[in-house]
Amino acid sequence: VELSAASGHLLAGLLEARTGQQLPLSRRWRIAAVLQPLARERGFKSLDDLAAAVAAPSGGALADAAVEALLNNETFFCRDRAAFDLLLGPALARLEQSRTAERRLSIWCAGCSTGQEAYTLAMHFAGQRLRWQGWKIDILATDVSKAAIAQARSGLYSQFEVQRGLSAMEMLRWFEQQPGSSWRIAPELRRAVRFEVHSLASEPPPGPFDIILCRNVLLYFSAAMRRTVFDRLAAAAAPDAVLMLGAGETVGGRTDAFVSDPECRGLFVPSADRPTPRRAAS
Ligand SMILES: C[S@@+](CC[C@H](N)C(=O)[O-])C[C@H]1O[C@@H](n2cnc3c(N)ncnc32)[C@H](O)[C@@H]1O
Repeated sequence: VELSAASGHLLAGLLEARTGQQLPLSRRWRIAAVLQPLARERGFKSLDDLAAAVAAPSGGALADAAVEALLNNETFFCRDRAAFDLLLGPALARLEQSRTAERRLSIWCAGCSTGQEAYTLAMHFAGQRLRWQGWKIDILATDVSKAAIAQARSGLYSQFEVQRGLSAMEMLRWFEQQPGSSWRIAPELRRAVRFEVHSLASEPPPGPFDIILCRNVLLYFSAAMRRTVFDRLAAAAAPDAVLMLGAGETVGGRTDAFVSDPECRGLFVPSADRPTPRRAAS
């Protein structure tokens, strides 16, 4: 499918302006691949026609749809199990100890896509009911994609989506099969997570958060934007909070706001001279 360099530039610019995600020239092929269905559905003869309509003053809703289509929502349940084991094992045990007085944990999944990441956490807490009895575990999950958040809220997943990452036992424990071939997540897990549309390009939701997950989101931000986002995450984090990034992602050379967690290699903690935390209004 043909897409002129000018249209590619325009659409990549739109995506970056709305979300911070960059599409370097080497990844521009994605534009044609993911926008083709939208162009067909809206009756455009070519992708260049679609791009021109997006840029027109009346192109608002079409631009929204194009940005949604350009976002990469790849995710699955229990993605990087080893990293979750570290987070939900030693790192969580440490937080459990330091929070015994208030019995409260605040978790933020930033860039949660269709919800699998946040529900992975919710499954963990629900699976250890006795241990967390009397605790308030607040899980906030956000994404810039309205469509992703709508699916996350619905708690509905295809057979393919539930099979990816979950064992048969976990599937049967936490999901109910629906007519057709979709699966609905248990109501108690749905109630355990608050999903909101939010862009990391704007101010973070009010913290402080004890655990922040920001996985496979910052990869395609510009270096400057990534630095700003790390500063904002640090400002929203409790002093002893834990940050989990995607497998292979690190803070080294990208920010001074977080450093490697000396006790849990692979996780990160706010550095002593991080930006001042923003507290939730009480
Ligand atoms: C590849 S998915 C990763 C999902 C999940 N964190 C994981 O690791 O499985 C990246 C997600 O980041 C979201 N995203 C991209 N830019 C964002 C922004 N500026 N603010 C919030 N979310 C963003 C995308 O919509 C997408 O759902």
